[in-house]
Amino acid sequence: MTERLVIRRPDDWHVHLRDGAMLEAVVAYTARQFSRAIIMPNLAPPVTTAEAAGAYRQRILAAAGKGTDFTPLMTCYLTDTLDPGEVERGHASGVFTACKLYPANATTNSSYGVTDIQNIYPVLDVMQRIGMPLLVHGEVTDSDIDIFDREAVFIDRVLSKVIADFPDLKVVFEHITTSEAVDFVHAAGANVAATITPHHLHINRNAIFEGGIRPHQYCLPVAKREKHRLALRRAATSGSPKFFLGTDTAPHARSAKESACGCAGIFNAPFALESYAAVFEEEGALDTFEAFASEHGPRFYGLPLNEGQVVLERQEVVVPDHVGPDDANLTPFLAGKSLHWKFIPHTE
Ligand code: DOR
Ligand code: ZN
Repeated sequence: MTERLVIRRPDDWHVHLRDGAMLEAVVAYTARQFSRAIIMPNLAPPVTTAEAAGAYRQRILAAAGKGTDFTPLMTCYLTDTLDPGEVERGHASGVFTACKLYPANATTNSSYGVTDIQNIYPVLDVMQRIGMPLLVHGEVTDSDIDIFDREAVFIDRVLSKVIADFPDLKVVFEHITTSEAVDFVHAAGANVAATITPHHLHINRNAIFEGGIRPHQYCLPVAKREKHRLALRRAATSGSPKFFLGTDTAPHARSAKESACGCAGIFNAPFALESYAAVFEEEGALDTFEAFASEHGPRFYGLPLNEGQVVLERQEVVVPDHVGPDDANLTPFLAGKSLHWKFIPHTE
C-alpha cells in the first residue's frame, strides 16, 4: 500500500476567492495547497476591466500575506458589451490570463453574463488570435430545459457551434458533470480541455436529497446521476492531458447556504488535494494523480510546471464541521467524514 505520495506542486484551475472578509477567511486554504490558481471574476460588480482585475489581484496577495508563495491568475468576466480591445490589452499587460463565459443568470453573480453567444464573437475572434483561453460555464438557462439536462443541451446548442466557428480557440469546459461533456472533450481537438471538481467525483445527485435537503451538496452545475459520476472518474484518472484539476471551491457563509433559497457552491478548498487523492486511490489510479493535479493544466495554459513538491501521507484526517471566523462561518465539503491522506505543505 502506498504510504506517501510525493507530487510536483499542483495548481487549482478554478477558484472563487470572493472579496473583503470572505477573501480574508478563505485565501489561505487555497494558497496552502496550490502554487497558482485561476481566480473567478464573478464578484459584485464583476471583474470586467484590467484595472479592476489588477486591483483585485493586489487584494488577494495582501490577504494571502507576505512571504506566501501563491500566484493568482486573473480572469475577465465576459458581458454582451465588453470591448475586445480591453481583453487584448489586459492580456498583453499580463493581468488577464483567460476570460470567463457565464451565460446570463446561469449561476451566482452571473446577471451581467452573456445573453447570446453571438454578442461576444468579436471578443472570441481576438482571443483565438492571441491564444487566450475561454473558460466556459456550460449550462443553458431556459426554464423549459430540465436542470439536469442543461449541460448536455449547452453542448448541442452553444459549445459545438463555438468550436466550429473558432477552431483554434483554446477552450476549458469548466467543472464538467456529464458523460456527454466527457465524450465531447475527448472528441474535440487538443485546444479543448476540461476541469473536474472533487465534489463531482465524490457525489451523485442523491447526495442533495439524502434524508432531507442538503444545501452543502448543492452547486451548479448540479451533480448528476451515478453513471455520470463514473464517467468523470474515468476521465480524471485516464491520464488524458485534456482533463485537469479545478476545484470550483465556492464559499458561501453557512447562513446563505442554510436558507429558504440557499446559494449554489461547495467549499472544498480546505481538503481539496486529500479529496482528489481519495478518488484516484479508489480507482486504483494513483499513478495518474500527479499529471492531473500538476502537469495537464500548465501544459494546456502554456505555463511552466511548478518547481518544488508537496506530500500526502497516509493518515486519517476528519474534516471539521465548520471552519472560518464567525462572520464567514463555512461548512467544508465532506464535513464530518474521514479522509485517509494528510497534506504536508511544500518545502523548497
Ligand atoms: O456552485 C457554483 N457556485 N457554481 C458556480 O458556477 C458559481 C459558484 C459561486 O460563485 O458560488
Ligand atoms: Zn465556479
